[in-house]
Amino acid sequence: MADGSGSSGFLRDNFQGVGFWNPTQILPHERNRKIARMDLNECPYPPSPKVIEAIQDAATGLNLYPDGTCPQLSALLSEQTGVPLDQICYGGGSTQLLTAIAEISIAPGENLIAPEIVWRRFQGVFQVVQADVTAIPNKKDGSIDAAGMISGIGNKTRLSIILTPNNPTGLMLSEQELRDICEQTPENVLLFIDEAYHEFALHAGGPNAIDLVKDRKGPWVVTRTLSKAFALAGLRLGYALCSSQEIANALRLATSTFNLSGIAEAAAIAAFEDKSYTQFILEENSREMGRIKKGCQDLGLAYMDSVTNFISIDTGVESGPVVRALRDRGVRVSTPGYDATGTYIRASTGLPEDTDAFLSALEDVLALQSD
Ligand SMILES: Cc1ncc(COP(=O)(O)O)c(C=O)c1O
Repeated sequence: MADGSGSSGFLRDNFQGVGFWNPTQILPHERNRKIARMDLNECPYPPSPKVIEAIQDAATGLNLYPDGTCPQLSALLSEQTGVPLDQICYGGGSTQLLTAIAEISIAPGENLIAPEIVWRRFQGVFQVVQADVTAIPNKKDGSIDAAGMISGIGNKTRLSIILTPNNPTGLMLSEQELRDICEQTPENVLLFIDEAYHEFALHAGGPNAIDLVKDRKGPWVVTRTLSKAFALAGLRLGYALCSSQEIANALRLATSTFNLSGIAEAAAIAAFEDKSYTQFILEENSREMGRIKKGCQDLGLAYMDSVTNFISIDTGVESGPVVRALRDRGVRVSTPGYDATGTYIRASTGLPEDTDAFLSALEDVLALQSD
């Protein structure tokens, strides 16, 4: 009954009684204290000084609506990727685009296919569109089963979701696996590749999805973000590279005409142009990731061999209490959202001192757990 007191009979079934979890919430004991924030796969460094300057310059135009097609940014991305300007569109973070992609392709009850281990936000996307989901089990090492993602497609499948690298595993598909998926996903299925960690994958010598998907005969969308390797999670800027103008326009309709602010466009251009700063971020990340992996080896802990800025680690004990105990010690990590054993935690890379704090708190917490 809709009585204005929280009862939700007027909502569609899939929205009734939904909760909200605020991942950035600061707990009372975390205020005014140095926290190792290693739970949200953010960049621990501030944006490039050139980006901050560009934001200040763009601020004077805030009285006007921006050009939602972001002509200058689109020209830059078009040059980078070879995707025509009118096939590029934007979201308030790529998160917004994920839902929009599902909305433009899936009607309630229609089928999509996705890996079983997938970034937890996707569960929300599936709920919003009321999809019938075919979840393909990941391989033993946690990586996406490329062959399974092809053979699992049925007559009614309309959307296939691939993440490379995937979250929470941090693992990427090989060039051959990605090529097979691009070629063998049927032409009546929209192939969606989430490449939020694209720059990290390239840095690790991985394939560039756009080079492979462009040869595909059927429809496709690749999403990327400025949140990770460009240190701009707070700006909320993601983009979609689409196989047709029709798909890009559908995404614009499902999001908004003025989806990106002029500030965001200016910041993104400056971020792409400051290549040495991105290189600095990627190199710092590799070093700290190496230190975390080494620390896990020293503690005798298994982990997934991530190429990104986060890593899933098997603590060998129930993960929830470990996450809480680390947080009590000023180190924020998360559970991966999906893990068959319930013993994994997911930690993002941070500053060198965050790595130190994490490894020493983890040793401490695990010693207490085994007592
Ligand atoms: C796999 C994956 N896709 C997309 C995103 C969305 O990032 P944003 O909305 O900041 O662009 C994330 C963020 O953690 C992610 O892990």
